[in-house]
Amino acid sequence: MRLKIVQNEQIAKDTFVLKVDNPGLFEVLPGQFFMVKINDYPFPLLRRPFSVAGFSDTIDFIYRVVGEGTRILTTKEKGEFIDILGPLGNGFSINSTKKLLLVGGGIGVAPLLYLKSVIESEYKIRCDAYFGFNSKDEIFTDDGNIATMDGSAGFKGNVVEMVEDKLNSDVLVYACGPTLMLRRLAFLCFEANCSMQVSLESRMACGIGVCLGCVVQTADNRYKKVCVDGPVFDFEEIQWQAL
Ligand SMILES: Cc1cc2nc3c(=O)[nH]c(=O)nc-3n(C[C@H](O)[C@H](O)[C@H](O)COP(=O)(O)OP(=O)(O)OC[C@H]3O[C@@H](n4cnc5c(N)ncnc54)[C@H](O)[C@@H]3O)c2cc1C
Ligand code: FES
Repeated sequence: MRLKIVQNEQIAKDTFVLKVDNPGLFEVLPGQFFMVKINDYPFPLLRRPFSVAGFSDTIDFIYRVVGEGTRILTTKEKGEFIDILGPLGNGFSINSTKKLLLVGGGIGVAPLLYLKSVIESEYKIRCDAYFGFNSKDEIFTDDGNIATMDGSAGFKGNVVEMVEDKLNSDVLVYACGPTLMLRRLAFLCFEANCSMQVSLESRMACGIGVCLGCVVQTADNRYKKVCVDGPVFDFEEIQWQAL
């Protein structure tokens, strides 16, 4: 689907927001993603996956520049058209009987912003958000409690350290971020008997379950595809040692 770019601007260090016109043809669950075609030219050949960070009059993506595809994406301008495929994946399921805790690291905060807005505006329930960044210049939201590794803003240290004492059996954690952060959080959730839904990243070629490029090993030694079985999983399903 070709949609018009409404905004593509830098909002933090190496971080951009891309907003495209919402055609209003579908609903998007928090945690779902789109495969974005970077160019009208053959390069880069493969689409790139990006989670939805906001969904209203526009479909919003927040992306970090890491390689050639995301670098080219920064050059796209308001008024140009871009081809996106989706919504894809399963999304988070919202459970209103538990105390909800959002824990995000770096660009993994992006899908949690949309989740937070749906929990608060549609479900009218409170959730506490904890977002970690390396330093102040990487922060792209003020909608939550902030931790920075270098202490330049908010709590000094890892976001997992910030939430460690809040984990118990009454809590449901929604998490997205770097694998190391998620693994540490999963370990603490096992210890505290806490529930967690986690959005995983993997290299994706097709995004629709065909190429098998995105599989993760499950706790029962099977494999699941992040693109169609996820990207959101119950943390107990995942073989964390294999990630
Ligand atoms: C379901 C899902 C949702 C995502 N949502 C977002 C998002 O909201 N915002 C965002 O900035 N990024 C998101 N990503 C990661 C994003 O897709 C990659 O950063 C992007 O594809 C990199 O493209 P590139 O051409 O710039 O980098 P490449 O040149 O392809 O790669 C550069 C570097 O990035 C790493 N990389 C490439 N693709 C991925 C990937 N899929 N996951 C992890 N590392 C990768 C490579 O290992 C390499 O080191 C998501 C990934 C998945 C699977
Ligand atoms: S990305 Fe191709 S099967 Fe998941």
